[in-house]
Amino acid sequence: MRKQALAGVATAALCALMAPASHAAQPWMNTKLSADKRADLLQAQMTADEEYGLLHGHMPGMMHNRPASVPRVAGHFDGVPRLGIPDIWESDASLGVANAGREHDDATALPAGLALAATFDPKLLFDGGAMIGKETRQKGFNVLLAGGANIAREPRNGRNFEYLGEDPLLAGTLDGASIRGIQSARVASTAKHFALNDQETGRMVASAHMSAEAARESDLLAFEIAIERGQPLSVMCSYNRIDGVYACENPTFLNDILKGDWGWKGWVMSDWGAVHSAAAATAGLDQESGQELDRDVYFDKPLREAVASGKIPAARVHDMAHRILRGLFASGVMDHPVKAGGLDTAADGKTAARAAEQGVVLLKNDAGVLPLSAKSKKIVVIGGHADVGVLSGGGSSQVIPQGSLKLPPPKGAPFWSAGVIYHPYAPLKAIEARAKGGSVTYFDGKDPAAAAAAAKDADVVVVFATQWTSEAMDVSLTLQDNQNALIDAVTSANPHTVVVLESGDPVLMPWLGKAGAVVEAWFPGANGGETIAKVLYGEVNPSGRLPITFPASTDQLPHPVLPGSDQLVGGSQDATHPFDIDYTEGSDVGYKWYAKTGKTPLFPFGRGLSYTSFKYDRLSVKGGQTVQVSFRVTNTGKKAGIDTPQVYLSAEPNRTQQRLIGWSRVALKPGASQLVHVTADKRLLADWDVGAHVWKVNGGAFKLFVGPDAATPTLTGEAKVAGAALKP
Ligand code: BGC
Repeated sequence: MRKQALAGVATAALCALMAPASHAAQPWMNTKLSADKRADLLQAQMTADEEYGLLHGHMPGMMHNRPASVPRVAGHFDGVPRLGIPDIWESDASLGVANAGREHDDATALPAGLALAATFDPKLLFDGGAMIGKETRQKGFNVLLAGGANIAREPRNGRNFEYLGEDPLLAGTLDGASIRGIQSARVASTAKHFALNDQETGRMVASAHMSAEAARESDLLAFEIAIERGQPLSVMCSYNRIDGVYACENPTFLNDILKGDWGWKGWVMSDWGAVHSAAAATAGLDQESGQELDRDVYFDKPLREAVASGKIPAARVHDMAHRILRGLFASGVMDHPVKAGGLDTAADGKTAARAAEQGVVLLKNDAGVLPLSAKSKKIVVIGGHADVGVLSGGGSSQVIPQGSLKLPPPKGAPFWSAGVIYHPYAPLKAIEARAKGGSVTYFDGKDPAAAAAAAKDADVVVVFATQWTSEAMDVSLTLQDNQNALIDAVTSANPHTVVVLESGDPVLMPWLGKAGAVVEAWFPGANGGETIAKVLYGEVNPSGRLPITFPASTDQLPHPVLPGSDQLVGGSQDATHPFDIDYTEGSDVGYKWYAKTGKTPLFPFGRGLSYTSFKYDRLSVKGGQTVQVSFRVTNTGKKAGIDTPQVYLSAEPNRTQQRLIGWSRVALKPGASQLVHVTADKRLLADWDVGAHVWKVNGGAFKLFVGPDAATPTLTGEAKVAGAALKP
């Protein structure tokens, strides 16, 4: 049965086993019972071997004798057919159903996580999650390795494009919405990579050090919020060490915080190759993924031996299997077995594009440059493979829609990289379609002088710049391959130049003063070329806001030199000697760091322009148990647009740390106004008190401001808040 079902994989479909009809009558199939109760009833029928079988699984691509029936997917675990437990089929990731290495496969790509985060819109994250959750099912998977919740503490992190920005409230809120969306399709999702996994350089060996207070108020807070809002059925622990102890065998993080303080009942799965001992089970790890990548299959023989010798209680193994089964029940995977088929990338591409359109950030716009109009007759488009498609991020999350261009990966990329992938949605084509009656000429940009000469007498120049980022490597904030020289030459030749960035991280912009407009399009995903053209031509009024600070130089960063970058031992950046990362900036991540040190970034967190303008007034602030803020937003321009005013705490009684405490996305017609209300989550008014193990709100006066970004206080206020101690 399995063999037959999986034969469809080559044509983009997997199929998990259907529970035979006879199982429907079993007591554990009673949907009126809780997932925990159902798991108990099922477990009562299972042998020890069957339980162990759930605890370790394959990375099929790395299997020595991979059965033809098992395709190259991220993860596979055998089910227990006699009890109706389906095989577990796992796919990456947060931005779509990844399909590198499976020719003729197709999937819809969401835009980069940073683009999604730039929408500041949980609804769009939910919709995107629901779309990729649906495709997960349609492609025969029942677990999606999604929910990337690591905050962008390190702007050079090659995986920031999979995550949701630098602020824990923003990242946690949006990640929770995405996970809820995914799981609404009756598949299980992870939240990952837990925890303090903030850079890729040395990710397998680096040891992160951060004070307990700082961790709770930053990286952990993002996970805490994501988990409480999204209720992921699984959490993936990360590769790195924390205070010398691997994250996947770290009892403080897994047992005490995740399962203890947060009362989370799901199963902890390891990252692929992140298990180092059977003792990880005692620390809170429930499942060993990708066992081919570990030195031993620790959760098979070594775990059985540890149990036999009394080192690990048998009850713990039972609990591990219970957590996994509970997830299969709670997700709907048991009651609604996955059945592949029905993929519709054309329809799903529309959902992806809706999110991407809201995530484009307009960073600069000199008068009269954007939006473009039919008056621009002579258009020169340069660089970025704009004639072919739009860039995407690399690594395990890589989605490769049919028709994509694959270029060889650059030096420093992981050996297993699928290459630099351009999704097949060419901006050039989308611009040509709008430049009716005009001429559009394309230059690949390899010859800056030729491009600049052509740009000189154009009505408008659109130059595309790309920064490829990938898992298992970090990047320079400086655009590579002579792109800065190209942009410099073109903007010098013609100030009517729009620079469109397709980047997975912030970039430095030495040519900023000369550019007429700058548009950050990130990795825009399905229909990305159309998305960019719609913004350029004003069919979409840009409304994205930066979810990550753009530094003016690397000297401004807490770690001007990337930790571990002097420890490389091979061609791939995640291969290094062990080293420590001292996160001395603590919870002062991103905009908090700039506020604290008084540095002025290139573009602050929250920044994003529109083709209209907004005004804020009528601030009212109430204190008491928390802070409640209301104010009025008015569209003072001539176009309909969406604004995202943000509310920041600027000082609390005992300690000063700027913190985003809320925002609202407001769509307004010209001249229209709306009242906005924001109530602060009390944890954002509190500091983590290590001794008392509580969130401590220091009673007194709290200062705050409303602004269009983290660096522009427009309305300021103050509220008296009562002291409190909140249990985690
Ligand atoms: C990544 C995970 C991914 C896993 C399976 C690892 O290299 O860190 O995010 O889910 O591979 O593909």
